[in-house]
Amino acid sequence: MFQLVEGRTYFTLGGRLRMRPTEATYWDGSYVSLWRNSERGREAFFDARVVTPDSHIAWVQSKPPNDLVWMAELNNARTVGMAGIIVDVAARTGEAGRFFIDNARRGQGLGLELHELVLAFGFGVLRLNSMWLDVRKGNLSGIKCCQRAGWREVGVDLEGHVHPGGPVVHMQITEAEWRSVMSAWDRPGAALEIDAYWQSDGELVARRMITSDLARHIVPGDVLEVGCGSGLIYEALRDAGLLEGRVYRGCDPSREMLKIARRRYPGVEFSTMDSWQEPTANVLSIHVLQHLADYRPALSELLRAAQKLLYIVSWFTDEPDSIQYDEATGFYNNFLNRKLFEEALGFSEGMMMTWRQLDGPKWSLAVRV
Ligand SMILES: CC(C)(COP(=O)(O)OP(=O)(O)OC[C@H]1O[C@@H](n2cnc3c(N)ncnc32)[C@H](O)[C@@H]1OP(=O)(O)O)[C@@H](O)C(=O)NCCC(=O)NCCS
Repeated sequence: MFQLVEGRTYFTLGGRLRMRPTEATYWDGSYVSLWRNSERGREAFFDARVVTPDSHIAWVQSKPPNDLVWMAELNNARTVGMAGIIVDVAARTGEAGRFFIDNARRGQGLGLELHELVLAFGFGVLRLNSMWLDVRKGNLSGIKCCQRAGWREVGVDLEGHVHPGGPVVHMQITEAEWRSVMSAWDRPGAALEIDAYWQSDGELVARRMITSDLARHIVPGDVLEVGCGSGLIYEALRDAGLLEGRVYRGCDPSREMLKIARRRYPGVEFSTMDSWQEPTANVLSIHVLQHLADYRPALSELLRAAQKLLYIVSWFTDEPDSIQYDEATGFYNNFLNRKLFEEALGFSEGMMMTWRQLDGPKWSLAVRV
């Protein structure tokens, strides 16, 4: 969303950071010089030339209109970083880059917020189809930050993406990926709103129904919940005694949901999605798959992670798949055809599937592998 502050237009998602187009001023030029001439800046931007405040001013005055550069500010107007997109207007793609957070402000989640702003601008405002960026292989914080924001690694030193200074990782993200992974759950206020809904009586009863169904399938061994949200399934499992003698781990792509879960149940492991591949006896996916643009890639990952039991709850139908995307909230609310779902799971020897209708379109599927 846009915000007008003292005559300047900012783009913000309601978090700590807001961004505005960089200006032909000594102020912006000084920051850009400070960052671009630093060792990290020269490395990260693949460019060792000296930038002066005046060369910045000259560049802004003559830059091509598709080369967008923003300064990132805290809400108290302190300038803390920069980022940009070079838009390929005809191809509807953009190269994101020039990500920089001031040295003194690193490690506080601002880099991630800046990525989220840039992605929201690229997909939400410019309506690009996809974006890409290159990052040095040795730039661990740069890579981690990209991964956390939803960028996908495509390869190293791909044609047209090489640099004499060392190996380069090429990353991409499509609009569908951005929408399904990040935007909806981490939209300002969304996590709290959804968590409040999940605490309603009806949802509590629904969780009890799930735990009593799961009690008939759960096998000895630990539990991994993929898409743990704010931790309410964890609570239901614990209260039903299903976690006695087991270690529970939850993971979720939403930072905001994880924040709530960690605050609510300190000491329980709630982590981001990069850490979920570890094989576990019981893998749970509860009301997750219906909210993905395409459940198939996630399903094969879940199957890979499940050593003995994969337990899924979702919205199913015997009609054809019904894909429903809500523009206003950014959520997919899909109804999945059961037969196609079984086909996507694939059959392997020893696999056993048990369907159970819990309530209306809510079904559970227990897969013994
Ligand atoms: C890359 C950069 C923008 C990250 O900014 P930041 O504000 O420190 O990053 P955040 O605090 O948002 O951290 C984002 C993630 O990266 C991880 N991270 C940050 N610094 C890290 C480091 N030095 N090593 C490993 N991981 C690191 C964080 O742990 C976090 O992941 P988590 O949420 O799973 O814990 C910043 O380090 C920077 O400006 N570097 C120099 C320029 C650059 O390299 N730009 C990137 C080019 S693509």
